[in-house]
Amino acid sequence: MAEKTLLRLVACGSVDDGKSTLIGRLLYDLGSIPDDTLEALERDSKTAGTRGGELDFALLVDGLMAEREQGITIDVAYRYFATETRKFIVADGPGHTQYTRNMATAASNADVAVLLIDARKGVLTQTRRHAFIASLMGVKQVVLAITKMDLIGYARERYDEIVADFVELAGALDLPRLAAIPVSGVSGDNVATRSAATPWYDGPTLIELLESAEPRESDRADKPLRMAVQSVVRPDQDFRGFAGRLSSGAAKPGDAVRILPSGRTAKIARIVTADGDLERAVAGQSVTLTLDHEVDCSRGDVIAAADAPCEIADQFQASIIWMSDTPLYPGRRYTMKIGAAQANATITEIRHAFDIDTFQQTPAKQLEPNAIGVCNISLDRDIPFDPFEQNRETGGFILIDQDTNETAGAGLIHFALRRAHNVHWQALEIDRDAHAAIKAQRPAILWFTGLSGAGKSTIANLVEKRLVSLGRHTVLLDGDNIRHGLNRDLGFTQADRVENIRRVAEVAKLMADAGLIVLVAFISPFRAERELARSLAKDGEFFEVFVDVPLAVAEERDAKGLYKKARAGQLKNFTGIDSPYEAPEHAEIHIDAAITSPADAAEAIVAKIAERIAR
Ligand code: ADX
Repeated sequence: MAEKTLLRLVACGSVDDGKSTLIGRLLYDLGSIPDDTLEALERDSKTAGTRGGELDFALLVDGLMAEREQGITIDVAYRYFATETRKFIVADGPGHTQYTRNMATAASNADVAVLLIDARKGVLTQTRRHAFIASLMGVKQVVLAITKMDLIGYARERYDEIVADFVELAGALDLPRLAAIPVSGVSGDNVATRSAATPWYDGPTLIELLESAEPRESDRADKPLRMAVQSVVRPDQDFRGFAGRLSSGAAKPGDAVRILPSGRTAKIARIVTADGDLERAVAGQSVTLTLDHEVDCSRGDVIAAADAPCEIADQFQASIIWMSDTPLYPGRRYTMKIGAAQANATITEIRHAFDIDTFQQTPAKQLEPNAIGVCNISLDRDIPFDPFEQNRETGGFILIDQDTNETAGAGLIHFALRRAHNVHWQALEIDRDAHAAIKAQRPAILWFTGLSGAGKSTIANLVEKRLVSLGRHTVLLDGDNIRHGLNRDLGFTQADRVENIRRVAEVAKLMADAGLIVLVAFISPFRAERELARSLAKDGEFFEVFVDVPLAVAEERDAKGLYKKARAGQLKNFTGIDSPYEAPEHAEIHIDAAITSPADAAEAIVAKIAERIAR
């Protein structure tokens, strides 16, 4: 008997639109696959060789495991059912909280998106968002299931109206294969059998539609070889092996491959699996490759066809779906995970966001929760990739919040930006050590953070005076002053503060490279940017100085009268009042500024760094 091919569906809807009822109806009409079959399929897929359908299944299961391994929780239930000719997996996410995250996760894997529309409500913002994400994620086939037809008396005009609304909207999106169907989960109209209640509808039933749908990327095995290296293993004493899953293409012993990003080439020697060597492996299979000679290759590298390798770059234009409750700020650093590779990523520019109601491009300074935008991204190292359009595994990525470790966004690469290509690091002959030696000191960065009015500038001034009297070479970067020059284009929105601190962190690093003891006095309210500043410094030279006062004390002092203004509503985004301050958790120096005099504080700080700055 021929293998049943597998189709992955994502069911998208809003709260209460009858999604569960419809899925329940599908399962009821067809009988779902019991759990032990699931395990059997998984077992089979590991030994199946080239049996297409099973391999797709393995891909999905592996994908989920990979996500669990990364500590990402996805709130998507997967349900299984089958017809005479086909097996199906439906990703079913809850319609309310965090839905975008689930939807994006599921859509990145799906062949077909079933968009549910409650016939009484019509096309909603949520419908638009889902259609947009489906199109972004490359799901070409969309089935519009207009549900609860029984509740509107199977009214044809209403159905036609909703379809027309959607078709108009879909025109702006890349959804080449669109079908609509009037259904009811409760009474099963047009699900498994044609309904007598909709004589005016002469299209297929939902099941017929799904049975005839094309799995996407059925040509995966015909594309050039890509395998992200998950781990380096030693299948026997002699050889190092590279374990991973083929995301596209095929491999056989003797094939020439290229390791990226290094670009080194080799030939495949063996294809090792737990059940013996293979003569050939194809997309979807997890294997261990050994090569004909030792080459450098580690986790995160990509093994590609030698004559059709992926591209390498450290700057991209990409679409990003933002899922975190904290907005995406340009300049903030996130961890990018792409395939098995990982890098530090910064959004250098939000080109535009999308208005979900019109799909029009709108300017944006940050991406709000659930927003979708096109951004330029810069990484701290080269990574191998393909445009998402060509390969969704080597072109799709996630962004992780470095503070909370949550998956904050999902993205897809459009193309590499070539602007960094001709800019190389210039080797400098007078290095930071030479700069510091002539000053007879070692550089350090004292990073003062705290509320406005806490006493940062006052204490920093005293520290600087004392250091200079000891013959040290210093520089003091003060928020109020830098905001008159370098950062005069920035205000006090969260996005502007992120950029404010990013620039100062870079300047502090340059100054430390010049051999100076750098004092930085900025509110610097966000942990992420202070961590960035720390990471730019050399080990042990960064001292975070938390000038800690209760808000009430700072407000009581109110040397510049700003708290009063902020309380009166005349000054927006004031730290501590209507803009957050994230207190340091592991500051090297903690000054209890409510009870410590600035002079005592300064003395304590100088004592604390004395050893570090001496040569
Ligand atoms: S930061 O948050 O971006 O680090 P920064 O230290 O540069 O702030 O600037 C803070 C100084 O700007 C304060 O000392 C205060 O004098 C002034 N200021 C003006 N508006 C605000 C505001 N909305 N919030 C905080 N400080 C403000």
